[in-house]
Amino acid sequence: MSEIDPRRVAELTEREGERLSEKLPRSIDFEKRASRSLAGGVACSWHALDPHTIYGARGEGSRVWDLDGNEYVDLHCGYGVMVVGHANPKVVEAVRERVGLGTHFAMPVEDTVVVAELLAERFGLPLWRFKNSGSEVTMDACRIMRAATGRDLILKVEGCYHGSSDGLAFSYWADVEQAGPRERPIALPNTAGVLELFGQALRIVPFNDLQAVERVLADEGDRVAGMILEPIMMNSGVILPAPGYLAGLRDLLHRHGAFLAFDEVKTGVTIAAGGATEWSGVQPDLVTLAKAIGGGLPIGAVGGTEEAMRVVVDGTMEGEGTFNGNPLSMAAARAVLTEVLTPDAYARFGELEQVLAGGLRDVVARYGLPATVPSIACRGSVQFRSEPVRDYRDHAGTNAQLAHLAWLFQLNGGVFQPAGDPWTFSVAPTEEDLRRSVENLEAFAAAVTG
Ligand SMILES: Cc1ncc(COP(=O)(O)O)c(C=O)c1O
Repeated sequence: MSEIDPRRVAELTEREGERLSEKLPRSIDFEKRASRSLAGGVACSWHALDPHTIYGARGEGSRVWDLDGNEYVDLHCGYGVMVVGHANPKVVEAVRERVGLGTHFAMPVEDTVVVAELLAERFGLPLWRFKNSGSEVTMDACRIMRAATGRDLILKVEGCYHGSSDGLAFSYWADVEQAGPRERPIALPNTAGVLELFGQALRIVPFNDLQAVERVLADEGDRVAGMILEPIMMNSGVILPAPGYLAGLRDLLHRHGAFLAFDEVKTGVTIAAGGATEWSGVQPDLVTLAKAIGGGLPIGAVGGTEEAMRVVVDGTMEGEGTFNGNPLSMAAARAVLTEVLTPDAYARFGELEQVLAGGLRDVVARYGLPATVPSIACRGSVQFRSEPVRDYRDHAGTNAQLAHLAWLFQLNGGVFQPAGDPWTFSVAPTEEDLRRSVENLEAFAAAVTG
């Protein structure tokens, strides 16, 4: 393993930051204007980047362009939303047709039912409801579990992200100094303004640890309504479940009369037609989806078994929302599920994964970088830690300075991807596009080890 000098990393970070600034004069200037009317100059706190927010202009296929006209291969895909590629003609056509027919009625339309049928087939769950974001459907999944069992506690995994609702905005990116023991973490709010009170209805457990779940169930099983988790973690880099972990969770929870909910907002229709549910062969009681199913339009979906969804069907749990099942989003989702994310698309993801993840692993090995490259289909991450990452605490121990510098090399080398988050590629890139990312990692590796 190569020794990496932190002073060299600091020098290179400054140099690459300056190179980036030179490419972004309009964005830097625009940030000043934006900050006068848009709080912090951004609509979502995660759009603010270090050293500069990059303002976007347009996208087409595998590429995006910023306000300065810089072109990037897009391995961000808008947090994994744009798996269909930018301005995909099938989605554009479906949306264009729907706009001309009216876009909102407070009546379900045919597409709403068709999309529910398509998801039922993909995820093996018969009943669905729609919302407009991932946060709303993870919130609903918890309500359903609580309403259906009459119990109050939800188990949540440390380092999993389920959106911004008060009930779940806990123990993501927690400061490990404050977060208590690894095997029984404390529920820590993700942000100021979330009452600690909400955390009292959660029990936090580490990923990949059945014993931790068993302990909570042994102590308080009669209060546990269910557990929600990302079946493959994708908000602390990519972390795969250990063999048997997901099946073990389902058995443990069912033994205690509690539900299992897979938050597939990221894994959803991206890593396989039926997401992590299909990939793992473990059928949860509830699945939440958002992001990629809408092909770039706002959407959220929660699906469940007859048993879990009974409370929704009989009205015990009201599922409200003015824009639920919005016809525009439904038209886009129908096109995504029937015309774009077809079996051919998933086969292509497998081939391209070899090019990108395989190429990055080769660089890591040749330069002896302290890193691993977990990947699955169109998603993956470079985790800057010599040992494989099994849970949030391992991820929190990765080298954030190296990750930031590698990200700057990617941006300066014409690849847009999330800072410290997994990459996502769409159906659109060529192998050549993805090799650009491999070349950038190689330039980074040569610079930090040289
Ligand atoms: C796994 C997971 N669940 C839920 C959400 C929240 O989705 P949204 O931002 O659409 O509210 C996210 C967003 O990143 C997510 O990654």
